Amino acid sequence: MPFDLDRFLADCSDAAEAGHPRALREVVARAVADPAALVARLGEPQRAGVQKLLHRPGLTVLNLAWGPGMTIMPHNHRMEAVIGIFSGREDNIFWRRIETEDGPRIEAAGAKSLGARDCMPMGRDIIHSVTNPLGRLTGAIHVYLGDFFAAERSEWEPETLTEQPYDVVKNVGLFEAANRRLAQA
Ligand SMILES: [Fe+2]
Repeated sequence: MPFDLDRFLADCSDAAEAGHPRALREVVARAVADPAALVARLGEPQRAGVQKLLHRPGLTVLNLAWGPGMTIMPHNHRMEAVIGIFSGREDNIFWRRIETEDGPRIEAAGAKSLGARDCMPMGRDIIHSVTNPLGRLTGAIHVYLGDFFAAERSEWEPETLTEQPYDVVKNVGLFEAANRRLAQA
């Protein structure tokens, strides 16, 4: 069956307005259950980047493509989220906050590898880092119950694992660097 983008976004809005992360998970799971239909509607990812499918204060829906081998450092979202994969793979490490003699840090607490058709809800306080382990692009639908671009968030410096404000410009730059590598390949 063809993927109906308007219907999908309306279903995301309904789930968001109802404040039901579980309902949202079902909407995203249904969408990625047929990756070929999603690719037919959204296109096979051609370059790393973030396409806004819907963006308003209570809801952000992104079509996100990770570059080959790309890693994004540990970060939080401070809002509920659901991730669904329709092409490729993303490896997630989950982190938890700990106190050390040198101050607050994070430590790895778990991992989950997601492939096409996989769907994962994330609670508002989740801290994760993401790697695309493949030599090609990974395509994912990311839905956030909030304004993903306006929220104040944190990231953790990957060597020292110390918290700092989320650097939007740097993270956009990661996608651009991935595209430069793609162009050279
Ligand atoms: Fe994230």
